[in-house]
Amino acid sequence: METGKRVQDSYTEMTELLLPQHANAIGTAFGGTILSWIDICAAIAAQRHCGTIAVTAAIDEMQFLAPICVGDVVRLRGWINAAFGTSMEVQVEVLRERASESSLTPCANAILVFVNRDSSGRPVKVPLLHAVTPEEKSREIAAKERKRARLERARNPVCPVG
Ligand SMILES: CC(C)(COP(=O)(O)OP(=O)(O)OC[C@H]1O[C@@H](n2cnc3c(N)ncnc32)[C@H](O)[C@@H]1OP(=O)(O)O)[C@@H](O)C(=O)NCCC(=O)NCCS
Repeated sequence: METGKRVQDSYTEMTELLLPQHANAIGTAFGGTILSWIDICAAIAAQRHCGTIAVTAAIDEMQFLAPICVGDVVRLRGWINAAFGTSMEVQVEVLRERASESSLTPCANAILVFVNRDSSGRPVKVPLLHAVTPEEKSREIAAKERKRARLERARNPVCPVG
């Protein structure tokens, strides 16, 4: 019998400090740096779910909601929203922690897809996900709907390759 994993098994938290080398010319975060941290956080969550190194297949729903400045602490939280056949959807939220502010500010939110592969690169099945809380269940339903839309977009890309 397939045992599966819970959402909390994949839960990943990372903390970074935004330094000048992570910033753009106006002292706020360079988007590519934040995206790189998001990809790492999501990769760890995916690895915790499937127990192997999974590859990023897609990044979508990436939004920058509020600026992060040099000196801010950056918190990333990632978890699995849904496990499909050989792929899984991972969500990462990015929050700003600033000494002068009493609460964390949401700064970015991303949805990524990772594919589990064997040593020769062939996609292999991911463990089932047991969504337990109402929030986890509604995220899983939304992820399934996004998968349908995403694969449709992959079939009809806005920017075709070649
Ligand atoms: C992602 C990748 C493994 C898919 O390989 P593939 O041979 O096309 O695989 P398949 O068509 O058998 O699909 C495998 C899974 O990937 C999913 N998938 C394929 N293309 C996808 C896309 N564009 N977006 C989201 N999911 C995708 C499929 O839905 C399937 O998932 P499922 O089994 O849960 O339904 C392959 O395209 C790849 O290796 N890409 C490069 C990944 C990489 O290097 N990432 C590093 C970041 S630059």
